[in-house]
Amino acid sequence: MKVFAALLALAAVLAAGLAFAAGRTAKPVVLIERPGQCVEATEVMRRDHMKLLLHQRDRTVRDGIRTKPQSLAGCVDCHASRKTGSVLGEQGFCQSCHAYAGVRLDCWECHTPKARAQAAGAKP
Ligand code: HEC
Ligand code: HEC
Ligand code: HEC
Repeated sequence: MKVFAALLALAAVLAAGLAFAAGRTAKPVVLIERPGQCVEATEVMRRDHMKLLLHQRDRTVRDGIRTKPQSLAGCVDCHASRKTGSVLGEQGFCQSCHAYAGVRLDCWECHTPKARAQAAGAKP
């Protein structure tokens, strides 16, 4: 009986801990600030945007193919925050969701996270 009570107490502590953790987990902020249409339907983008981009990267670097619809610079131009001009930062379109999903990108070591209109002389 004592063991049972101890287990119950332990379970209660664990449950409280979990509820606490869940309550503190930041939800991704997906701000759409600019008018216009995405390159694909929202559902497709949520699921497959990485395939579009990675496939495009292979084709661009290997075959020199550059098309507008799946351009990374295009994503950034449209999705950059009006406040920061960037897709990175705490509420940045790309970063917020990736932080939530635990995804890290190396893209920004070479590509600018800033919209071109707001970053004159930026890297590709
Ligand atoms: C080591 C440097 C480097 C890294 C890291 C890198 N790229 Fe690139 N990327 C380039 C260069 C150089 C080009 C060709 C320049 C151009 O097209 O203007 C390019 C072109 C592209 C293009 C076609 C041009 C455009 O703006 O759409 C896409 C798409 C792209 N990269 C996606 C990515 C993605 C996604 C990542 C991260 C997963 C990434 N790249 C990481 C160097 C890099
Ligand atoms: C011309 C502007 C424009 C361009 C370019 C663009 N998007 Fe979008 N994107 C939007 C809009 C507007 C929405 C919201 C659509 C809706 O919810 O109806 C959206 C939605 C999304 C979503 C889903 C967000 C959610 O609600 O979960 C992702 C992911 C996304 N875009 C990624 C990208 C990527 C990656 C690129 C580049 C390959 C890109 N977008 C290019 C305007 C754009
Ligand atoms: C609605 C949430 C969401 C938004 C917004 C979003 N992503 Fe993602 N992204 C994800 C998730 C989740 C994954 C990981 C998917 C997987 O591992 O299968 C991912 C993966 C990626 C990858 C592949 C990473 C790798 O190395 O495999 C690239 C590239 C990428 N995202 C680019 C972008 C860019 C650029 C933007 C902003 C224009 C963006 N994403 C916005 C959710 C999002």
